[in-house]
Amino acid sequence: MTYAYIHVSTDESVGIIALNRPKVLNALNLQLIDELVAELERMDRDPEIRAIVITGNDRAFAAGADIGEMAEASAIEIMQKDQFAVWDRIMLISKPIIAAVSGFALGGGCELMMSCDLVVASESALIGQPEVNLAVMPGAGGTQRLTRAVGLRKAMEMLLTGEPITAAEALRYGLVNKVVPVEAYFREALKLAKRIAKQPPLAVRMIKKAVHKADDLPLDEGMDYERNCFYLLLASEDRYEGMKAFLEKRKATFTGK
Ligand code: HXC
Repeated sequence: MTYAYIHVSTDESVGIIALNRPKVLNALNLQLIDELVAELERMDRDPEIRAIVITGNDRAFAAGADIGEMAEASAIEIMQKDQFAVWDRIMLISKPIIAAVSGFALGGGCELMMSCDLVVASESALIGQPEVNLAVMPGAGGTQRLTRAVGLRKAMEMLLTGEPITAAEALRYGLVNKVVPVEAYFREALKLAKRIAKQPPLAVRMIKKAVHKADDLPLDEGMDYERNCFYLLLASEDRYEGMKAFLEKRKATFTGK
């Protein structure tokens, strides 16, 4: 596949997608999002890939939806395009996605970051939802995911003022997992992805899904969901291998079966 606005590579069993519109700080036009989601789905189907990293460049992860593309479009045109349906498909990706974020992660860029499972940020990251400054609001989960991630008060402050927060503050609020110097953010994200890629894939897949259910389900239903995943994993070959290897004091070899 050749793409216009993303760059795709692999490192061991990690798939890497770099957003690639540097002149406009990786503003997310419709084609970029289409390409990104198509590639995420392709990587999800590829048995050689066990984890995925999404990144931008040192200056910008993504500065939001492409304002130029939205500026003249009418509400009805935007609604008829149903542009958020493609975003919803990110939530169906079963493999873990790690965002490697440096510089601006604003608007749709912040929403894309929050759609990932883990975030490694550089010290220069500036994260926020500035849509209010344009007299609009987030449309790809900003009010919902940010509130779940940082709590109502901080989310209100960020969404109503439009002011971004620094990487250090994002770490304090649990919006990112780790903050490292700018030279190291991609390397650290890759290291984390490779670490997860070595884990038994069926367990990784079910843990990811069960953790996301914690946002959606009441506790008793979430517990029930977790337990059913637990029973299902007991039927895998890998769990016999994992437990046997532990008892035999050797390293397990997982096959994903
Ligand atoms: C289109 C953008 C852009 C965007 C930056 N650019 N952000 N183009 N859409 N979201 C372009 C600029 O026009 C400029 O192009 C070039 O990138 C460099 O940007 P500068 O503004 O010159 O850089 P700087 O002065 O460093 O300021 C950086 C910035 C600022 C603070 C990030 O660019 C900015 O405020 N951008 C908009 C951020 C934003 O409002 N995002 C939310 C969008 S709405 P030229 O051609 O002049 O060099 C949204 C809704 C989400 O995301 C809905 C769900 C998808």
